[in-house]
Amino acid sequence: MRNVEHQSTAGSDGILPRISILVVIGFLIGFAGAVAMADDAAEEAIPPEFSGKIMPTGTSDDPKAQVAGKEIYEGKINPAVNCSRCHGSDGKPTKLGKGAPDLSDPTVSKKHSDAQWFWRISEKKAGTTMPSYKDKLTEEQRWHVIAYLRTLAPSGK
Ligand code: HEC
Repeated sequence: MRNVEHQSTAGSDGILPRISILVVIGFLIGFAGAVAMADDAAEEAIPPEFSGKIMPTGTSDDPKAQVAGKEIYEGKINPAVNCSRCHGSDGKPTKLGKGAPDLSDPTVSKKHSDAQWFWRISEKKAGTTMPSYKDKLTEEQRWHVIAYLRTLAPSGK
């Protein structure tokens, strides 16, 4: 009985509302997808072995750590470790580092935690040219580099 009533109300004037409902639903699904993707880009899940990593106290503001980080970044400690050839001496990507974010941009710097960057520097990022440095830099050296990176975008932290 309910069925019959339902059918009779969905007469010829029922098509337009139905289409607009579909459009709205389609839009909502698309929107949710876009939000999920934007979230992914903002903060990918850090693997458990890195998510608990914390920069040793005092390192980020320690001028000595920052200088040590700068020397690593510029390839002065180990020529096989030269971040600036891709990230530029100022944090802006070079031709070789195409696709890398501008590390001197405070919004980029703010977007990622120290743990996130520690992970990024430790492990190769699949599908990009960003190499793995866990075998080339000690943990302490990786923190020094991050302390230096934060100085490239002064208000970024
Ligand atoms: C051969 C080029 C290359 C070299 C060398 C390189 N990088 Fe990268 N790096 C990239 C690219 C490309 C990306 C962007 C990856 C992506 O698409 O997410 C990246 C991403 C990063 C990120 C993540 C930035 C963010 O906010 O998403 C950090 C941090 C980083 N690199 C630090 C370093 C450090 C520190 C070194 C040196 C020890 C280094 N990189 C050496 C190419 C390079």
